[in-house]
Amino acid sequence: MTKLSVNLNKFATLRNARGGNNPDVVKAAIDAQRFGADGITLHPRPDERHIRYDDVREIKKIITTELNIEGNCREQKFMDLVLEVKPEQVTLVPDAIGQLTSDHGWDTIKHKNYLKEIIGVFQKAGIRVSIFVDPIEEMITGAADSGTNRIELYTENYAKLFAAGNKEQAIAPYIIAAKKAQELNLGINAGHDLDLHNLQFFKEKISTLLEVSIGHALICNALYLGFENTIQLYKRQLKSIYA
Ligand code: PXP
Repeated sequence: MTKLSVNLNKFATLRNARGGNNPDVVKAAIDAQRFGADGITLHPRPDERHIRYDDVREIKKIITTELNIEGNCREQKFMDLVLEVKPEQVTLVPDAIGQLTSDHGWDTIKHKNYLKEIIGVFQKAGIRVSIFVDPIEEMITGAADSGTNRIELYTENYAKLFAAGNKEQAIAPYIIAAKKAQELNLGINAGHDLDLHNLQFFKEKISTLLEVSIGHALICNALYLGFENTIQLYKRQLKSIYA
């Protein structure tokens, strides 16, 4: 089974636009869980322009599904928050300080020693670690050397090529990367720009996929289709004939 972790950052963006508490992000987490989400993903940033550190604390207290906190481990505030909240999973992204959005995976060879050290800190605290990587075989081998439990395959390029009509070309590097990850005993997550059009094909081709985290497209769909219905539609895409 592939788990759907719903990224709630866009709820927080909307709430922050007016300064009040509408929509209520904690309620959104409870509802997402009630509507079938297998997990909640939150991506706090130091300027708290969407999810705030206190949102993460409140949501962790109230949900019973898995919490995945993703973010930049070079930010001390992020490290402190994750170690305080102790989510089931932390996903480390290699953003520069102050970066707008994640747009590349780790260079797991160049940063091997740093990753080993930081991954060890989280694992010692009982937190499963996933690191964001591009679908490049050497980077997967490097990820295994870093001691991470899982990788999250960065799927923006897949989504772009898929949208341009090149499905097979789009998926090819991910199939190779996933095979390598499996050989090396790494769990496989995926995320970025996955949507109702490209998700099922990805899942069918990467049958070992453990989890996807989806935010932007899912929330856009929810504006038209409703939150509950949208979560169910995404879940259906993950129930391929190979599931
Ligand atoms: N995974 C990572 C590491 C991300 O940074 C993001 C975006 O916050 C996502 C997954 C989800 O991407 P999207 O919002 O395009 O679904």
